Amino acid sequence: MSLQGIDAYRDDDTLPALVQRAVGAARRHGFAFSCRPEQGRLLRVLASGARHSIAETGTGCGVGLAWLASGAPEGARLISVERDAERARIAAEVFQGCDHVEVLHGDWRLIERYGPYDLLVLDGGGQAKGDGTADPARLLAAGGTVVITSA
Ligand SMILES: C[S@@+](CC[C@H](N)C(=O)[O-])C[C@H]1O[C@@H](n2cnc3c(N)ncnc32)[C@H](O)[C@@H]1O
Repeated sequence: MSLQGIDAYRDDDTLPALVQRAVGAARRHGFAFSCRPEQGRLLRVLASGARHSIAETGTGCGVGLAWLASGAPEGARLISVERDAERARIAAEVFQGCDHVEVLHGDWRLIERYGPYDLLVLDGGGQAKGDGTADPARLLAAGGTVVITSA
């Protein structure tokens, strides 16, 4: 979501526990392109209004997904898809024990098998950058929100 976004995390003790875990994993594995804290806080607020389902493309090491999971109401399900096998494995580890969060390994189009979503975050695939364009009309529930990142 952000070039060198991981470098913006400093005061880790103030972060939600899941975000701390994901940031730690991203640092350990040298993954720099996580969302910045201020972007994460926006995702957390948006997630709080998503009653049933949230999807993300481009999991990375799970930092954005951790912010989403930290804000999602009880009962909401989250899925995120990552095409890089190692990152998908790292992120799945971060969310071990979180039964309502699923990390899928594969192309972003996997999200089309599920849904519709109350909140859809396009952060790696589906953003009309050459690997296809997600169709909000098909993927969003009525009144749903889509977030599209650039960079
Ligand atoms: C900007 S990073 C994601 C950061 C993450 N959302 C976060 O906030 O920490 C983009 C990720 O999207 C993945 N990606 C790029 N194209 C993809 C595609 N077509 N399908 C699935 N994942 C993709 C990349 O491998 C990369 O890990």
